Amino acid sequence: MAVTRVPLIAGNWKMNLDHLQSIAFVQKLAWSLRDAKHDYAATEVAVFPPYTDLRSVQTLVSADKLELRYGAQDLSQHDSGAYTGEISGAFLKALDCRYVIIGHSERRQYHSESDDVVASKTVAALRHGLVPVVCVGETADDLEKHGPSAVPVAQLAVVLGQIAADADIVVAYEPVWAIGSGQAATPEQAQQVCAALRESIAAALGDEIAQRTRILYGGSVKAANIAGFMKHRDVDGALVGGASLDVDEFSAIIRFRQHVGTV
Ligand code: 13P
Repeated sequence: MAVTRVPLIAGNWKMNLDHLQSIAFVQKLAWSLRDAKHDYAATEVAVFPPYTDLRSVQTLVSADKLELRYGAQDLSQHDSGAYTGEISGAFLKALDCRYVIIGHSERRQYHSESDDVVASKTVAALRHGLVPVVCVGETADDLEKHGPSAVPVAQLAVVLGQIAADADIVVAYEPVWAIGSGQAATPEQAQQVCAALRESIAAALGDEIAQRTRILYGGSVKAANIAGFMKHRDVDGALVGGASLDVDEFSAIIRFRQHVGTV
């Protein structure tokens, strides 16, 4: 039976926009999408602001009854206790976060997050009723040595080994060489790795969850290239960095259906 996956366009703000700027940004984005009569049921939209913005975003989303979702860029694998500087999934849930990004390559690289830590954080997110957006991806060196899908599939395998077969997760394939470089993967490359990731989910947890799980592509996505990615059957959306900080550009990415025929 064919399963329809609702595409997800997600904006990872990284360490940009303070809480005041976040309010102005989300307001403008909501207006832009309202003017364009955006159907949130057809394409889900989420933003991932810094922790210090989340309360402001929550207040705005709830006051204006926005259909926009939001989440954090990381969480602790622990629930509470003496972990200075860490944020519990319980706190994110209390702010009505739907999602949390886990294992972004910048966390893996600058904070030495191992696959085991990423798996523990995924389990913590699920424990608190958050949907983890688990990031995987190979470096340029990995690509040369191991080919396109070996490293992302191996990274995801560690996570899949620790979650229940009915877990609600999103996977983001972000080749490290494509992040912030202006050099996106080709849609065919993205499709190939997303398909391999879906097969690995099917092998570990069964076909049903594999068909249900959304797999996003991330790395230099912009309005000009999103349609090419979204044409492919195993690419269910995008995790957007730099281009998610410009309201008009991000709004155009979200409205990819309107320019699907243009590439
Ligand atoms: P860019 O879109 O800036 O390449 O960043 C991608 C990314 O890392 C999203 O998480």
